[in-house]
Amino acid sequence: FSEFLTDTFARQHDYLRISLTERCNLRCLYCMPEEGIQLQPPNTQLTTAEVFYLSQLFVNQGVNKIRLTGGEPTVRNDIVPLMQRLGSLRSAGLKELALTTNGISLWRKLDAMAEAGLTGVNISLDTLDPFQFQLLTRRQGFDAVMKSINRVQEMNKLGAGIRLKINCVVMRGLNDHQILPFVEMTREQDVEVRFIEYMPFGGNKWSENKMLPYQEMLDIIRTKYPDVGRLQDKKNDTSKTWQVPGFTGRVGFITSMTHNFCSSCNRLRITSDGNLKVCLHGETEVSLRDLLRSDHNGIPMNDDAFDAIRQLELDRRKSSGPSGLRFDGEEGWISKESQLL
Ligand code: GTP
Ligand code: 5AD
Ligand code: SF4
Repeated sequence: FSEFLTDTFARQHDYLRISLTERCNLRCLYCMPEEGIQLQPPNTQLTTAEVFYLSQLFVNQGVNKIRLTGGEPTVRNDIVPLMQRLGSLRSAGLKELALTTNGISLWRKLDAMAEAGLTGVNISLDTLDPFQFQLLTRRQGFDAVMKSINRVQEMNKLGAGIRLKINCVVMRGLNDHQILPFVEMTREQDVEVRFIEYMPFGGNKWSENKMLPYQEMLDIIRTKYPDVGRLQDKKNDTSKTWQVPGFTGRVGFITSMTHNFCSSCNRLRITSDGNLKVCLHGETEVSLRDLLRSDHNGIPMNDDAFDAIRQLELDRRKSSGPSGLRFDGEEGWISKESQLL
C-alpha cells in the first residue's frame, strides 16, 4: 500500500467516495430545501473522463473501494458508461465498486451496472409507508424505490452478488415508528437495514431532541425482538451490526453522533466539483479539478497535485484522530453539503 495515502495513525486511506453531482430528484426534509439548492455552473463539475482519471490515479496508489454518491448519482446521464470505465480498474486493484442512491431510477440501470462490475448498493429509504415517503421526500417515488430494492434481490438470487443495504435516517417523532417494520423486513430478505443517527448540517433544522441515539433505537428493537444480538464488524465498518437470530438479513447502526469512528476512518472524498477532502470535519479542500485542467505540458496532474494531497493528509493528522474528534452541537458539522456525507 502506498505510503502516500497512509497517515501517522497508520490509517490507510483505501476507500474513495466520489460525489458525482449536487443535483437530486428528491427533496428530503433533512437534506434539501423545497426549492433545491443553488447549483454551481455545469463546467465546474467533473467530466466523465476526469472522474475516471482521478479514480485511476487513486487506485494506482492503493485505493481498493470506490463509492459513487451525490446528490443523486443516477441523475448524471453518464452514470452507466462511467461505471463501465471504473469497472475496468479491477485489474489495477479495485475490489469494490459501490453506489449510494435514493433508488428512484436505479431499477432501470441496474442490469447494465451489474454487468459493469457494481458490487454494492446502499439505498436511502426512511419509511416503508408510501404516504410518509411523500411527506419526507416531498416527491412521489416510493414504488420505484421498492422496485429497485426488489430488483437487486432478484438479481442476487441469480448470482449477481450485489451487497444491498438500506440507509434509514431516524428522526424522533417522524419515522421512529418505522424501526420495527424495517427490522421485520430482515426476517426474510437478505438485506442490511442501517439506522442512522440524524446529523445536523447546512441548516437542516436539526435539533437534539429529534436525534434518536443508538441505545434508544436498540431499546425499541428489543421490545419486539429481545434476542437481537451483536455481530462481529469488519475493520473499517462505520456501522455496528446486529441480527435477530434466525433472520436472513441484518440490522446496522451508524452512530456518528454518539460514538465517532475516526480511529478506523479510511475515507477520502472528492466533491462533484473536484475538490479532494480527507475528513468530513476538515475544512481544507484542494481542487484536483484545477490541477487537472491546468496545462502541464499536456500531462494532466503533476507533482503539485501530489504535494497538495500530501498536505491534506498532514492536515488530517491535525484535525482528527483516535484521540477523538468532537462534534460541536452548537456550530454543527463543518462539512458544507450532504454530498460530503
Ligand atoms: P459502506 O461502504 O456500505 O460501509 O457504506 P458507507 O456507510 O460508507 O456509505 P453511505 O454512503 O451509505 O453512508 C451512510 C452514512 O454514513 C451517511 O449517512 C453518513 O451518516 C455516514 N458517513 C459516511 N461517511 C462518514 C464519515 O466519514 N464520517 C461520519 N461521521 N459519517 C459518515
Ligand atoms: N443525518 C444523517 N444521515 C443523513 N443522510 C443524509 N442526510 C443526513 C443527515 N442529516 C444520509 C442519507 C444517505 C446517506 C449518504 O446520508 O440517508 O443514505
Ligand atoms: Fe436527495 Fe439523498 Fe438529499 Fe434525499 S438525502 S434530497 S435523496 S441527496
